[in-house]
Amino acid sequence: MQKTSLVILLTGVVALGMWGISDYMAHKGEAYGNVERGQSIAEQTCLRCHTKFEGAPLPDPNVTDAPPLASFGQRWPLENLEEALAEGITVSHESVTMPEFSFTPETIADLLSYMDKLTQKANETAKQ
Ligand code: HEC
Repeated sequence: MQKTSLVILLTGVVALGMWGISDYMAHKGEAYGNVERGQSIAEQTCLRCHTKFEGAPLPDPNVTDAPPLASFGQRWPLENLEEALAEGITVSHESVTMPEFSFTPETIADLLSYMDKLTQKANETAKQ
């Protein structure tokens, strides 16, 4: 009887510990948005036409002039994109039909965090 309760107690401690860790992981780097979620949004919405970094081959042969996502943050504050994304971005993607995106403030935060990460990486590479 005593042994059983000890096992239950231990399991509880382990479960609590794991919850604590995953909670920490979930919020790590989430000062603003979530980079991983942002990446998957970008993969579904932007990276069909845009590259991540300068010099990477463009994913769509019909799109020849989409700047890399990492370059946005290098050229202007990423916050500038926030409003555009919120209002429904229709950046003059003249040659191609740009799908209508609707973003919630949360997905915008995720997307911008991901782009911020790409910008940091691009800047680090440039420094070397
Ligand atoms: C269907 C292809 C396509 C998709 C999808 C797409 N883009 Fe674009 N994007 C382009 C092209 C092409 C240009 C360059 C347009 C030009 O210069 O006239 C561009 C330009 C831009 C620019 C302007 C960059 C600058 O330097 O002025 C921004 C910002 C941008 N895209 C953001 C996004 C974001 C964010 C997403 C995903 C939510 C996205 N785009 C999805 C094709 C696309």
